[in-house]
Amino acid sequence: MKETVLISGKNGLLANRFWELQKSNYNIKFLSTDKKKCDNISVFYWNIKNKFIDENALKDCDHIVHLAGYPIISRWTKENKNKMYESRINSTKLIYKYCKKLMIEPKTFISASAIGIYGLESEGEKDEKDTTNTDWISKMASDWEKSADIFKKINAKVVKMRISLIISKKSLFLKSYLLSMRFGIATLLGSKSRHISWIHIDDAVNFIDQAINNKKYNGAYNLATSKSLTQGKLVQIIKEEKYPFCITFQIPTRILSFILGKRSKIFIPNIIAKADKLKKIDFKYKYDSFREVIRSI
Ligand SMILES: NC(=O)c1ccc[n+]([C@@H]2O[C@H](COP(=O)([O-])OP(=O)(O)OC[C@H]3O[C@@H](n4cnc5c(N)ncnc54)[C@H](OP(=O)(O)O)[C@@H]3O)[C@@H](O)[C@H]2O)c1
Repeated sequence: MKETVLISGKNGLLANRFWELQKSNYNIKFLSTDKKKCDNISVFYWNIKNKFIDENALKDCDHIVHLAGYPIISRWTKENKNKMYESRINSTKLIYKYCKKLMIEPKTFISASAIGIYGLESEGEKDEKDTTNTDWISKMASDWEKSADIFKKINAKVVKMRISLIISKKSLFLKSYLLSMRFGIATLLGSKSRHISWIHIDDAVNFIDQAINNKKYNGAYNLATSKSLTQGKLVQIIKEEKYPFCITFQIPTRILSFILGKRSKIFIPNIIAKADKLKKIDFKYKYDSFREVIRSI
């Protein structure tokens, strides 16, 4: 019999791709803040501020995958920062509270987290033992993971995905590079030598599937390929494969900071998220090469 997986954040990129690739393997239910999407059959409403979850969402649920999160790219106002925190941490606590109330013990609780846990000003290689807690983003990611750990109290296996940049033809990141290059300009955001750790969306989906089914998966994992790229190399590959006649144009960090304010710090980190822990559990990538990803689009 198929197991039931409850995923938070129905409208999200990763949640949708999980549904596309795994719908024949699981009964998939969703939590959404978008009332229009809720059919009370497979998509259920929740409201974190009002501490509300439609209880039918949790019925017969074997595994929970918590992917909801107010976008980090939104303006960093106090109000938006609260939404970012609430949608990640308070939401985890709310799901836990409902599980306790309904006496539901999921076998697995998988939570999104991010390599932002290593800090915005970080440099160099980072493995899962490294944390910094130097800025609000890394503190938030750390609280996100700590809140996921409360599910251990109800005997769930807890897996935390320190997601690097998700690459998908639908992601804003890749779409904006490809769009500007279609018009002849390859735009570099900040330094061309900064490293970008990345993972293809289908590999992130595969990781979730493996984390549900494979007992070896436990704790925090950097979700990244074993080959990080510099931004310069990334643009060069897209140029070579798709738009060879593009002119490269660099937006300096100070201009980014003028346009985006403090959010420009998202484009500063120069982190190589080490994927050794994934290797140890013998994780098989569909895409470990960025060139292959671009060729597949
Ligand atoms: N994409 C990346 O490169 C990346 C990198 C590192 C970490 N992550 C994390 O991984 C998770 C999944 O990523 P993704 O790219 O699939 O995310 P996404 O496309 O931005 O979707 C997140 C979903 O969260 C829900 N949401 C938004 N605001 C909310 C709020 N205030 N309260 C509750 N739910 C809210 C929305 O679904 P509904 O409208 O259905 O409620 C939204 O579609 C996110 O938590 C993200 O922060 C992503």
